[in-house]
Amino acid sequence: MKITQMKKYDVDGVFDLESQCFSTPWSKQSIASELKNPNARFFVACRDNCVIGYIGMHLILDECYITNIAVSRKNRKNGVGSSLLGYAISYAKANSASFITLEVRESNIIAIEFYKKFGFKPQGFRKNFYENPLENGLIFTKWFGEEVF
Ligand SMILES: CC(C)(COP(=O)(O)OP(=O)(O)OC[C@H]1O[C@@H](n2cnc3c(N)ncnc32)[C@H](O)[C@@H]1OP(=O)(O)O)[C@@H](O)C(=O)NCCC(=O)NCCS
Repeated sequence: MKITQMKKYDVDGVFDLESQCFSTPWSKQSIASELKNPNARFFVACRDNCVIGYIGMHLILDECYITNIAVSRKNRKNGVGSSLLGYAISYAKANSASFITLEVRESNIIAIEFYKKFGFKPQGFRKNFYENPLENGLIFTKWFGEEVF
């Protein structure tokens, strides 16, 4: 398994995973447009030339926001998500981020456990942040320096 920056030829594979994993997936066009977004960094995990996972983030000044992360069903519970998130954390730290933050559905216990394992802490919630089904989004943040909260 290899992690690399997303390229144009990875967009179809990322879109397929995005569609399989989320009820309101990003469009292929939205994913492709991230290749031109100077604040965006998308990384893909590939095996045998197939995208088996990806993580997207936005880096603005010292703030890092994870936009999406997913691993294909048959490759889950095998460390791929950890490799991607670890890669993103190292990248954010190396690029002077002070923290990394994200939202997660409050029912997504697996992802919540996943983020907690990496030291993300709950910071609050956004009411009805998600659609289909309507659900609150929990905000989780990992601080790199001294914790503020
Ligand atoms: C969340 C996700 C990316 C994790 O990827 P993964 O490759 O399966 O994760 P890993 O194998 O690296 O697991 C790391 C840790 O996550 C947690 N975890 C992963 N799968 C879990 C499960 N089925 N039940 C409970 N905890 C789980 C555990 O803490 C695990 O550590 P452990 O192996 O020591 O128990 C994956 O489940 C996924 O793609 N989910 C669907 C998309 C999604 O919900 N994305 C998050 C949106 S906010």
